Amino acid sequence: MQVLPTIRLATTADAQAIAALSRDAIEHGLRWRYTPARILAAIRSRTTNVAVAHANDEMHAFAIMDYADTTAHLVLLGVQATQRRRGFGRHLLAWLEDAARVAGIERIDVECRADNPGAIAFYRNQGYRVQDVVARYYDARIDAVRLAKTLRTPAV
Ligand SMILES: CC(C)(COP(=O)(O)OP(=O)(O)OC[C@H]1O[C@@H](n2cnc3c(N)ncnc32)[C@H](O)[C@@H]1OP(=O)(O)O)[C@@H](O)C(=O)NCCC(=O)NCCS
Repeated sequence: MQVLPTIRLATTADAQAIAALSRDAIEHGLRWRYTPARILAAIRSRTTNVAVAHANDEMHAFAIMDYADTTAHLVLLGVQATQRRRGFGRHLLAWLEDAARVAGIERIDVECRADNPGAIAFYRNQGYRVQDVVARYYDARIDAVRLAKTLRTPAV
């Protein structure tokens, strides 16, 4: 069943839950890098959007997007294991893409673990195209698949 989530920018009160979800959903088997302190820094950064999706007063998903001048980098996107395939990832990503379009961003880049075919299928379904594979990108052990989505052609 698809539930329409409430999506908003994260506040510092969300940092602990986001870090825990990153550890459990994304960084499993790797060194935990997106600790509460790092998530807090991202929430406070002026060049980063941290967004959370709630339904029934529970945080079901989060995403982090870093902005450069003309490109953005989707750093993390995670949905609670019990809430997957209900549209939370798609809605959250669309929300961030809309913000990036308004900001004039031309392309969004993302990497995901090569051992995560579900995530690769998800990004392809959202219009991202595989660019290449980076060997041993995660903890010098696990390969990354790099994908990108063009939002608009560069202004001349
Ligand atoms: C990848 C992830 C973010 C997808 O979020 P989600 O909310 O489950 O995905 P959605 O329900 O929005 O899926 C949208 C579409 O993407 C595709 N898709 C999503 N997950 C998929 C999977 N595991 N296998 C194949 N296709 C998938 C489907 O086409 C899906 O539409 P459908 O359910 O109508 O068939 C989520 O599974 C997740 O958090 N995984 C663990 C963390 C992770 O891998 N993060 C990404 C790398 S940082």
